[in-house]
Amino acid sequence: MRELDSVERVGVVGAGTMGNGIAQVAATAGYDVVMRDIEQEFVDRGFDAIDSSLGRLVDGNKLTEDEAAATRERITGTTDLDDLADCDLVVEAAVEEMEIKQEIFADLDETIPDDVVLATNTSTLSVTSIASATSRQELVVGVHFMNPVPVMDGVEIVVGERTGEKTTALAHDFAEELGKETWESDDKPGFVSNRILMPWINEGIRTLDEGVATKEDIDRGMKLGTNVPMGPLELADHIGLDICLDATETLHDELGDRYTPAYLLKRKVEAGDLGKKTGRGFYEYD
Ligand code: 3HC
Repeated sequence: MRELDSVERVGVVGAGTMGNGIAQVAATAGYDVVMRDIEQEFVDRGFDAIDSSLGRLVDGNKLTEDEAAATRERITGTTDLDDLADCDLVVEAAVEEMEIKQEIFADLDETIPDDVVLATNTSTLSVTSIASATSRQELVVGVHFMNPVPVMDGVEIVVGERTGEKTTALAHDFAEELGKETWESDDKPGFVSNRILMPWINEGIRTLDEGVATKEDIDRGMKLGTNVPMGPLELADHIGLDICLDATETLHDELGDRYTPAYLLKRKVEAGDLGKKTGRGFYEYD
């Protein structure tokens, strides 16, 4: 397997919101990046988003003009997957459709040297199924970035059924090289992030639909009441409602009705482990 030390060139498949964000942060970290999408128009839009994001970072004194210019110079755009052939690491961030992702991974498997790690930014699909389209399942891993990629601190590493330990370690190290902190999830529907976030957003939408409160009060209530930066409806708009629906449908197909109180919750209450007030809940307190 090609170690992170020898990674100089990173391929990114997809120049959409996530793809262009990943390309940007990889280039800022000093990697040469090849960003590929199926049409030049999408590549161009990806560069527009990168320019705008770099501009915001410069305005906020998070990057100097020189660092922004150097970042931009390190990114090449292409519509040809073959242009990723000399990449040392590839991150796929195409649309969330299993058939398309499997096709991309089968193509990457042919094009990219067989010691190169192939990562997927999938938000809810099975990393194991995506990896099964390749002949290097141990080198396939989930590296799930959060939107907006240049701003969010965290990256979720998803370990598929056949993902190798070294591949998982490389994924953590790569994300850290990009200035992110990581957490790890088994390859189960929605992983940690979307398994919890999507029902929260979905319940926010139901709360509006069932007339509990205005959209403004739902978002204000959750922001003021729980200190999150965006309420569920604002966050749904930010992520994209199509993406939220796709993710929620996948979770529904895989997990069914999740609104019954969790068995573990009932058991903990029966045990008297009520949280901070009893010194023990899911964590322990002095
Ligand atoms: N590029 C560069 N800088 C950006 C940026 C971008 N794309 N977007 C925002 N910023 C900067 C702004 O310029 C601003 O910088 P400043 O502090 O120097 O002025 C700073 O970030 C804050 O932005 P704003 O003032 O515009 O607005 P907010 O304070 O509301 O922050 C936000 C915007 C960072 C998006 C914040 O609202 C937030 O964190 N929201 C929650 C986002 C979230 O939960 N993302 C995860 C979604 S789930 C996901 O992605 C998984 C997927 O699978 C669905």
